[in-house]
Amino acid sequence: MSGQQIRKVAVIGAGLMGHGIAQVSAQVAGYEVALLDVKQEFVDRGMSMVRDSLARFVSKGALDGQKADAVLARIRPTTDMKSALEGAQLVIEAATEDPKLKLELYRRVSDHLAPGAILASNTSSISITLLASATTSPDNVAGMHFFNPPQLMPLVELIRGAKTSDATIETIRGVAKQMGKETVLCKKDSPGFIVNRILVPALNEATLLVNEGVADPEDIDKAITLGLNWPMGPLKLLDYVGLDTALGISEVFMSELEDSKYRPSPLLKRMVRAGLLGRKSGKGFYEWGSPSSTKAK
Ligand code: 3HC
Repeated sequence: MSGQQIRKVAVIGAGLMGHGIAQVSAQVAGYEVALLDVKQEFVDRGMSMVRDSLARFVSKGALDGQKADAVLARIRPTTDMKSALEGAQLVIEAATEDPKLKLELYRRVSDHLAPGAILASNTSSISITLLASATTSPDNVAGMHFFNPPQLMPLVELIRGAKTSDATIETIRGVAKQMGKETVLCKKDSPGFIVNRILVPALNEATLLVNEGVADPEDIDKAITLGLNWPMGPLKLLDYVGLDTALGISEVFMSELEDSKYRPSPLLKRMVRAGLLGRKSGKGFYEWGSPSSTKAK
């Protein structure tokens, strides 16, 4: 079965994931992209992260300067939902991981969606079926879960909600391929899908080791990078994806999977309360130079 041909994409949310998804859509897939966020400063910060990332590709000769300019020209930053969604055959939502906020957003997006357009969520753990229930065409809603940084990570998880049509899955599978990504299909809409179901308990376990004073963060990360060959240790990775994001996922696991083994550690909760979110706030388990940095100071 072949899916719908996509030319125009709207990405909702210009944060750590949204800016990267918009960039891959324009840079690799060649789509026209509208990048939407609620405040001009969020859109500006997203575009500045896109510029930083393109500059990295240019500096190592993976992209020429003119092509980078053309990529930038294909991304239209905006704070106006109606104009962003106009004519978009695919909307990829990468807004804050808050179920209430997302449901309200899906109701509004549903009012502006072009007929037949697909709405794909980059949610890391919220139910696709629940999000789809806030729209008028749940058959056109699915999950497209990217990994951080979307510009480099080769996987997209595709998630089928209870009412997602086969045609929708085929279209997003084609889109991911056009973006140069490999895909896996989650046949059931289960919290955390595949990767986060395995990863987030492991990251939480690392914070328990710190909390219990078993080892220092640097040694825990050293153990896992050298012992398991992970590119980043679990605490650096927590900083990289955001402690608030991991906490949010653990909370969804606790409420949906109803098993205390998913309980977030007291340290994780304390750090999030203190605003120590990792790279995005400048400090978590490590100090970070900027939100687009891959290196802790
Ligand atoms: N854009 C363009 N290029 C980038 C970039 C970006 N955003 N980020 C890094 N790079 C480039 C660097 O310029 C560098 O290029 P070079 O090798 O030619 O010099 C190269 O990538 C490697 O970067 P660094 O040297 O800065 O750092 P690393 O070697 O550590 O690589 C990394 C960075 C690719 C992020 C690597 O550390 C990694 O794979 N980390 C694990 C990431 C991961 O596990 N992501 C998944 C998280 S879970 C998730 O996202 C799900 C969510 O729902 C929670």
